Amino acid sequence: MKVSLIVAMDRNRGIGRDNDLMWHLPNDMRFFKETTENQIVVMGRKNYDSIPEKYRPLPKRENVILTRNMAFQAKDCQVFNSLSNAISNFAEGNERKVFIIGGGEIYKLALDKGVVDEMFITHIDGDYDADTFFPDFDQGLWNRELIMTQAVDEKHKHSFEVFRYTLLK
Ligand SMILES: NC(=O)c1ccc[n+]([C@@H]2O[C@H](COP(=O)([O-])OP(=O)(O)OC[C@H]3O[C@@H](n4cnc5c(N)ncnc54)[C@H](OP(=O)(O)O)[C@@H]3O)[C@@H](O)[C@H]2O)c1
Repeated sequence: MKVSLIVAMDRNRGIGRDNDLMWHLPNDMRFFKETTENQIVVMGRKNYDSIPEKYRPLPKRENVILTRNMAFQAKDCQVFNSLSNAISNFAEGNERKVFIIGGGEIYKLALDKGVVDEMFITHIDGDYDADTFFPDFDQGLWNRELIMTQAVDEKHKHSFEVFRYTLLK
């Protein structure tokens, strides 16, 4: 089973502020939706909390929440108290990918544990005033391939590029 990660970050690796996203980029949202649909999405409890109630659980995806709170429950979501338990639960006989979808603590946990095989990173050409960041990972360990670009237009205040990173063997 493959473990993937998906994130959108600004020029400073900023990913969020006040437990919310900092931009509105519809085509990146669409990319996120299309890439993760029919897969398993693993998120931190704060990320789950940040999703407006009407959009959660994320539809057409198996939603998995990580928390240290053994009593935590969320409708139609699976809850785990460690990343390794969550991943091993889906390891056997599973065609679906596990997608690490953040936030900052969970991205760091997954990269530190070395469980990530590929990453889809949206690099937004802008500086936002973030309070949560993606970890400063070693670019030299990854091959990267450009898979999408978006220019500034009436719906996108900033341009962005999406790269697929794969771990060099
Ligand atoms: N730009 C993007 O692509 C993107 C994607 C996702 C999220 N975000 C942003 O990221 C921010 C949220 O990130 P965050 O770093 O504050 O929080 P987070 O990573 O979403 O969640 C942190 C929580 O996860 C649980 N957790 C952490 N480590 C754990 C472990 N080892 N075992 C079990 N549970 C663990 C804890 O929950 P408990 O406290 O319940 O124990 C912790 O409080 C928001 O601003 C959000 O909008 C951005």
